[in-house]
Amino acid sequence: MSVDISAQLIQATVQDFSSYFRKLSAERRARPREDLATLIANAKIDGEPISDIAAMGYYIIVAAAGHDTTSSSTAGAIWALAENPSEFAKVKADLSHIPGLVDEAIRWMTPVKHFMRSATADTELGGRGIAKGDWLMLCYASGNRDEEVFEDPFSFRCDRKPNRHVAFGYGAHLCLGQYLAKLEMRILFEELLPRLKSIALDGEVKMTQATFVNGPKKLPVRFEVN
Ligand code: HEM
Repeated sequence: MSVDISAQLIQATVQDFSSYFRKLSAERRARPREDLATLIANAKIDGEPISDIAAMGYYIIVAAAGHDTTSSSTAGAIWALAENPSEFAKVKADLSHIPGLVDEAIRWMTPVKHFMRSATADTELGGRGIAKGDWLMLCYASGNRDEEVFEDPFSFRCDRKPNRHVAFGYGAHLCLGQYLAKLEMRILFEELLPRLKSIALDGEVKMTQATFVNGPKKLPVRFEVN
């Protein structure tokens, strides 16, 4: 796909989202409810209503940020368990490993591959000079395989401790939904694992072709239930 076409597609999608959320915003200003849409619709900064573009930004990120990320991490956990019978046995034998399984799946999959930052001051990192205003690409997937931080970084261990991964980013923009994502995944595995007797891959795994957020597109598995 050419850059032009993909830029047009993104623009059309943002417009689609915006026309949906503009209606929702007007509706929540007229009839406020106890919900996040009402909060965004009526948000003020220094006494002034936030701009339309800021409100649309909030709506779109809240609606979009949790989809491919959480589902890719969940699929990553299934993939890892299907490939690692000893990890499957470990977590089945002691379900208190589930929070560790969730964290490790998020590290292992790292669905958000990168974000950009611009340096606000001259500095040095890993022996390399960074000048104020430089653009930096934060490669979370690479950071999460850093052998100076993680022992045996390419293996999947649901009892990895500590697990200081950066899949949710770092600093002021650290993922707002990280606790929701982990809660959803934990509840799913608490319900699923006691019922699952075995799981194995049953074909080739295919990833979504994307450079920003990706994960398994096709993950054929064979499983038995109790
Ligand atoms: C496993 C699932 C998820 C992963 C891996 C993930 C990852 C990330 C990453 C890497 C960032 C950027 C952090 C930065 O720039 O430093 C981010 C930001 C954000 N995420 Fe998530 N996310 C996940 C789930 C969710 C969910 C479920 C929601 C909400 C429904 C959510 C809402 C947000 C929002 C609102 C931001 C922007 C925060 C800001 O700019 O201050 N995320 N996420």
